[in-house]
Amino acid sequence: MFIKMPFFNRKRKHESYELSLDHMPEHVAIIMDGNGRWAKKRGLPRVAGHREGMTTIKKIVRHAAKYKIKVLTLYAFSTENWKRPKTEVDYLMKLPAEFLDTYLPELMENHIKVQTIGQLSDLPAHTREAIEMAIEKTSENDGLILNFALNYGGRAEILKAVREIATDVKKDQIKMEDIDEKTFSTYLYTHPLKDPDLLIRTSGEIRISNYLLWQLAYTEFWFTEVLWPDFDENHFEKALFDFQNRKRRYGGV
Ligand code: IPE
Ligand code: IPE
Ligand code: MG
Repeated sequence: MFIKMPFFNRKRKHESYELSLDHMPEHVAIIMDGNGRWAKKRGLPRVAGHREGMTTIKKIVRHAAKYKIKVLTLYAFSTENWKRPKTEVDYLMKLPAEFLDTYLPELMENHIKVQTIGQLSDLPAHTREAIEMAIEKTSENDGLILNFALNYGGRAEILKAVREIATDVKKDQIKMEDIDEKTFSTYLYTHPLKDPDLLIRTSGEIRISNYLLWQLAYTEFWFTEVLWPDFDENHFEKALFDFQNRKRRYGGV
């Protein structure tokens, strides 16, 4: 007796999973992890892993757009990543400009809209300006939203919301009784995006590292040992395939 297992024979390069276009996640969030280890394995400096990781971003963005995913939120730099050696931080801060320099024409061609979540004002001016330019240039695009989490921390985001709500209560702009989950979420960076349906983390770490703490309440999690620079279209399709075979209950039956 044969049981249909589409993920057999994965060695053939272009075999794809039987994905239903009607059941794609609308919002996919990714923790792109493992760049440093990828480089180390090859005897290269950590930054070489970050450079290679940019190539993966391009691949996955193309693929997400192909599958009509609406939002792709990529964790690019956390509020904790400032702890890294200055040379590495400096390198990471140069990557957005480099990425956008080479990739903006393709983003435009594919109607992709660049957005960010996180505290942009604390980034170096050259980083911020490159990103603001891309946001501005792509603002009329109506395709995939490519949302970069930059200087993003889930706790910082929640605290920022709390402070803004407190200010608005003080100014009588909202009433205490009106602070419900829906109102609260309008104060988050992610507003008005819907919460992620699927979270992918590469590199074998089974944690969320301060990512989208509020928004991941009912998200499906998918972890892989694969390091971000090695992550490809096939891995992404496997994540989508597994997502399509999950049963989401939201606390119901
Ligand atoms: C993820 O890769 C990229 C960023 C955090 C910017 P890492 O740099 O964390 O790679 P590892 O986890 O050290 O291998
Ligand atoms: C999470 O990865 C942040 C990004 C991918 C940008 P880290 O590598 O910083 O997370 P930890 O330190 O392993 O939890
Ligand atoms: Mg890491």
